[in-house]
Amino acid sequence: MRIEPASRKIAILVSGRGSNFAAIADHTESGKLDAEIVLVLGNRESAPGLRNARRRGFETLFLSSKDTGRREFDTRAVAALREKDVAIVCLAGFMRILSPVFLSAFPYRILNIHPSLLPAFPGLDVQRQALEHGAKFSGCTVHFVDERLDGGPIIRQAVVPILDGDSHEDLSGRILTQEHQIYSEAIDLVLSGRCELDGRRVLIHD
Ligand code: GRF
Repeated sequence: MRIEPASRKIAILVSGRGSNFAAIADHTESGKLDAEIVLVLGNRESAPGLRNARRRGFETLFLSSKDTGRREFDTRAVAALREKDVAIVCLAGFMRILSPVFLSAFPYRILNIHPSLLPAFPGLDVQRQALEHGAKFSGCTVHFVDERLDGGPIIRQAVVPILDGDSHEDLSGRILTQEHQIYSEAIDLVLSGRCELDGRRVLIHD
């Protein structure tokens, strides 16, 4: 199945720092990534990523997830994304699991970035897990989001070495530098209609 988004309109969902949002925004502004960020949606009002987006003049929406059921939150989020005619939804440090309501509204149109080489180390605090496990390499992964936790089809990955003297911060920083590159590259692959889903595999066409 070829993934063919209807437009280049994207939304970015953040819960925290928002450095991946900032990198994507930089790439769209410099022309490196041909995409239009039509909405930055956050579920934590104080999230630096959401504030930064507002400061940079992007349209933002805060939807509180506190005391809100998953279905209700997702229904509101989907309505907002549809209103903005979003073709691709990019999760960037968005700390919520999406319900079937959200997933079925954007099938293979939701991307996530994860700071490990999936399928190794799904879940949280994975840079620490890679260090403690004694892995010699780690990295980051951009994948489609489906009902499996960090388990959807992989679009792009980058590998980084784990060095003997690495602290958690050293490794996280090295991975983050790569995240900021490959997320925009993966978005471009998807938006340009070059991705074909073949079972679990994402084939990339020229
Ligand atoms: C990144 O490490 C990303 O891979 C993970 O959450 C972190 C978000 O960082 N999903 P930021 O908010 O984009 O700076």
